Amino acid sequence: MTAEEAALSVNHDEHVGFGGFTPAGCPKVVPKAIARRAMEEHAKGHPFRIGMFTGASSGDSLDGELARSKAVKFRTPYQSSKDLRALLNARETDYFDLHLSELAQNLRYGFLGKVDVAIVEACEVTENGEIVLTCGVGIAPTICRLADKIIVELNHRHPAELRGMHDIYEPTDPPYRREIPIYTPSDRIGEAIIKVNPSKIAAVVETDVPNEGSPFAPLDEVTMAIGRNVADFLVYEMKAGRLPKEFVPLQSGVGNVANAVLGCMGENKAIPVFNVYTEVIQDAVIKLMEEGRVRFASGCSLTVSNAVIDKIYADLSFFKDKVLLRPQEISNNPEVARRLGLITINTALEADIFGNINSTHVSGTRMMNGIGGSGDFTRSGMLSIFTTPSTAKDGKISSIVPMVSHLDHSEHSVKILITEYGVADLRGKSPVQRAQTIIDNCVHPDYKPLLKEYLALGVKGHTPQDLRRCFAFHEALATGGDMHNARFS
Ligand code: COA
Repeated sequence: MTAEEAALSVNHDEHVGFGGFTPAGCPKVVPKAIARRAMEEHAKGHPFRIGMFTGASSGDSLDGELARSKAVKFRTPYQSSKDLRALLNARETDYFDLHLSELAQNLRYGFLGKVDVAIVEACEVTENGEIVLTCGVGIAPTICRLADKIIVELNHRHPAELRGMHDIYEPTDPPYRREIPIYTPSDRIGEAIIKVNPSKIAAVVETDVPNEGSPFAPLDEVTMAIGRNVADFLVYEMKAGRLPKEFVPLQSGVGNVANAVLGCMGENKAIPVFNVYTEVIQDAVIKLMEEGRVRFASGCSLTVSNAVIDKIYADLSFFKDKVLLRPQEISNNPEVARRLGLITINTALEADIFGNINSTHVSGTRMMNGIGGSGDFTRSGMLSIFTTPSTAKDGKISSIVPMVSHLDHSEHSVKILITEYGVADLRGKSPVQRAQTIIDNCVHPDYKPLLKEYLALGVKGHTPQDLRRCFAFHEALATGGDMHNARFS
C-alpha cells in the first residue's frame, strides 16, 4: 500500500504504538501520512488526535510531524522533539514520563489502555508473519502482539541480512515471571524475529529513507574534561580493588557528554577491553569496537549517524556477532542491570549539594525530554554516576544548586557526581559530607562561595536544607536571569 492508504487504518482517538528507539528504526512515512490526514480532518472541522506509545524519542517525521499537525492527544514514555516539547509544556498534549523499561509491561498489564495499531519499521516481512526489525527495537514485540492491526514500513535502506542481530524476548507476566537468563551481555535468550499472526498485518508500505539522527556537537573542553574525569575515576576504582580487574559492563546515556565519556574511556589504556550493556549504542561504541576496545555491545538501538550505519551494513560480518539489539524491557531491565553490575553513566540537568538529581525539568516546571532509561540503570547498577557541566547558559546557571527544582534520582541511588572540575564520591557519606564534597570538587568557582554560605546558614537537623531559601538560585534566575545574584538574606 501507499503510506496514505495505510494511514486510513488509524482513526481518531485510537492508541498507536510505534516501533524503533530514538530515531533509529522508527517508522517515517506512515506517521507523516497520519499527520497529513489529521490536518485534512481538522480543516473539515473534524477532530483527529491519537494516543502515542513509542520506545523513546523518535525522528522528526514521527514526533515532529504529528506535533505540528496537532494530532497528539497523549504521549509516553520519552521524547526530545522541540515541537512536541512545546505542546507538552503548553499542556495541549498530555505526557506521561515513564521509566523506559516499564512501558511494555505496563501495556501488557492494561495500565495505559488498549493498543489499537502498531506501526513498525522492518528490513524483512514474510507471508507467514515473520518481521525482522531494523536498527531499533523499543516496544515493537509487545505492541505487535497486543495491537489489532499492524502496519509495516519495509525500509530497503536496511539489509535483510540484519536477521540475527536482534534478540526478541518478552518476559511472562506475574505471578509466572521467571528470571531473565542474561548472565553476560552477549547471552542470547530470544528469537531473531517478531512472529505475528499475518492476518493482523493491515499494510506493508515499502520505503527507502535514512534514519533522522542529528550529528553530535564537536567535543569541547568541558565535555572532554568530564570524559577524562570519568575515565580517570574508573581507573582509580579499579586500582583500589572496588571494580574487578576484568571490569564490568558499561551503560552510558544519551548525548554529547556520553559520547565524550566513551571516547575517553577508549583512549585510556589502563581500562581493559570492556563490554557495553546499554540502551543506545552510539557512534563512539562502534569506533571502540573497531579499535578492539569494546568487545560486545548489547542495546536497544543503533543510534548512530548515517555514515556509521552505512559502515556497519557494509561490514556486517564483522559487527553481527558483536552486537545484539533487544527490546527496551530487556536492555534496560533493572534485574539484569543489578546482576551484571553495570557502571551506569547518565547526564543530569541539575544536581543539588546533597546528591539529588533532576534529569527532566528546567527550573522545575518545563519538561526537557523525560527520565528515559536513567532511572532503570541508576537505581540498579553497581556504580551509578551522573555527569553534568558545572554551569549552563554561559555560566548564568549553576547546575549545582541548594535543592533540585524537580527530583528524578534521589540521594539514595546516586553514588558519584562528576563535572569538568572533578569527582564527588558520595558513597557512605552523610548529607553534610556529601555537600562539602560536591562543593569542593564539582561546583564552578563562581558559585562555591554562595553554596558554602548556604551550607553555613545554621539550619539544624540531619539534612540542613533551608526550606525558605533553598530556591534562592532559581529565584535569582527567574527574576534577573542569573544565578550569580542569589542572596540568602
Ligand atoms: N537549568 C536550565 N537549563 C539547563 C540546565 C539547568 N540546570 N542544564 C542544562 N540546561 C540547558 C542547556 O543550556 C541546553 O539548552 P539549549 O538546548 O537551549 O542549548 C539544554 O538544557 C540541554 O543541555 P545539554 O548540556 O546540551 O544537555 P544534554 O544534551 O547532555 O542532555 C539531558 C542532558 C539531561 C537533557 C539528557 O541527558 C536527558 O534527556 N536525560 C534524561 C534521559 C536519560 O538520561 N537517558 C539516558 C538513559 S540510557
